Amino acid sequence: MKTFKNFIAGGWVAPSSGEYFENRNPADTADLIGRFPLSTADDVRRAVASARRGFERWRREPAPARGDVLRRVGDILSRRKDEIADLMTREMGKPLAETRGDVQEGIDTAYYAASEGRRLFGHTVPSELRNKWAMSFRRPIGVCGIITPFNFPLAIPTWKMFPALVCGNACVFKPAEDVPHTGTVFVEVLLEAGLPPEVIQLVHGLGETVGAAIVSHPEVPVISFTGSTETGRVVGEVCGRMHKRLSLEMGGKNAQIVLDDADMDLALEGALWGAFGTTGQRCTATSRLILQKGIHDRFLGALVDRVKGLRLGDGRKEGTDVGPLVSEAAVAKVESYVDIGQREGADLLCGGRRPPGKGLEGGHFFEPTIFARVEPGSRLEQEEIFGPVLSVIRVGSADEAFAVNNDVKYGLSSSLYTRDNTIAFRAMQELDNGITYINAPTIGAEAHLPFGGVKQTGNGHREGGWEVYEFYSETKVGYVDYSGTLQRAQIDNYLGTPD
Ligand code: UN1
Repeated sequence: MKTFKNFIAGGWVAPSSGEYFENRNPADTADLIGRFPLSTADDVRRAVASARRGFERWRREPAPARGDVLRRVGDILSRRKDEIADLMTREMGKPLAETRGDVQEGIDTAYYAASEGRRLFGHTVPSELRNKWAMSFRRPIGVCGIITPFNFPLAIPTWKMFPALVCGNACVFKPAEDVPHTGTVFVEVLLEAGLPPEVIQLVHGLGETVGAAIVSHPEVPVISFTGSTETGRVVGEVCGRMHKRLSLEMGGKNAQIVLDDADMDLALEGALWGAFGTTGQRCTATSRLILQKGIHDRFLGALVDRVKGLRLGDGRKEGTDVGPLVSEAAVAKVESYVDIGQREGADLLCGGRRPPGKGLEGGHFFEPTIFARVEPGSRLEQEEIFGPVLSVIRVGSADEAFAVNNDVKYGLSSSLYTRDNTIAFRAMQELDNGITYINAPTIGAEAHLPFGGVKQTGNGHREGGWEVYEFYSETKVGYVDYSGTLQRAQIDNYLGTPD
């Protein structure tokens, strides 16, 4: 069995605790991937001290040269795509097609970041005074603490770290404890591409120790966290007290709306992929299906038939549609919501249990589950489950559907199936989400567009696109006065009051 290490101060090192945790395949828990460091606050302190040195060097590299490193990262990820996808599926379960997509998202993000190294735009604007130049430009900030989840073990770290690095920052990276192998390989790729060693630090371990130590370290001025809204609140409190720059990407309770005039087959495909892709473990998962009354019964009948045909299994095996959940704790949480749904009086149409007698006992499997007659406002309808559970709500009109969509505390993505362009454009205005898809499911974000949500999904920042570069850089303004005289802004440019 392999024992893995942290990457701190330019070398692969054991944790100061001397303790490790096991990482097992969720499709077959007898398959032990390796032992990973249970690091301590002390390991984090050494990582931050080294990252400070890395930052002092890296921030002075020209941004296009920093971008070049990211281009090489993209090349290496392209070459190793299948191998990385395989190890990712082994440690977190989603089928290979999905983990390949995850690596591809990292590749796309790398090439986008590489090209940003030649932009990182500021503005040059006219000064209100004569012979004076006025401009804004971007400066790196310092050491960024990067805390990422298990469900997109490669893509999400790249969303955060590639822009952070191109902007000239150093990173202390703590991957979720469910996916430490992908985190390790990712750091190996960065180093192979030529990133100076002290610019990246990898510290494995638990959120409450390693994550907390990163978040509260005074020399980590930037924190980016993707995870639950509950943990995000704790992170936010610490960052607020310490005046840190913080990007939060948290929960979702995303809805797909299907109106009576929709292309039903298209909407069916969307619901299947949105609700049960990644076994429902996406911030963008479709966890609510809002059906207009005219299509409701027909759609639901067809959906249940299709869901019963989904093949549950090991994501590394050909033909698997839905992999396991990531852990036993995840299964227990999903089971608790099945109980809640039944107590609340919703109709369990399919699933709702671990698969019986299918040779899947060795993994954290759970059957794709549909509840119908779910009441708006009920816990099943309001709370994030992060599993393969779809709640169906029946509505009379598009406006009622919009109201149900909006009446949750989250606001990541939404989806609307209709052939009516007027309603489609109205929905884009009315739906309270960071992303709205028309005639496409609630998932499908692309690397060059901003990703994020409103309300308790986030705190106003976005990942991806240009916006994320604003988060990882400080705007500085420079004025150059070459008039040779004292020119007072707002005073000496006074042109007189018109008569
Ligand atoms: C997430 O849902 O946790 O939207 C991230 C998608 C992906 C990213 C999803 N590219 O399909």
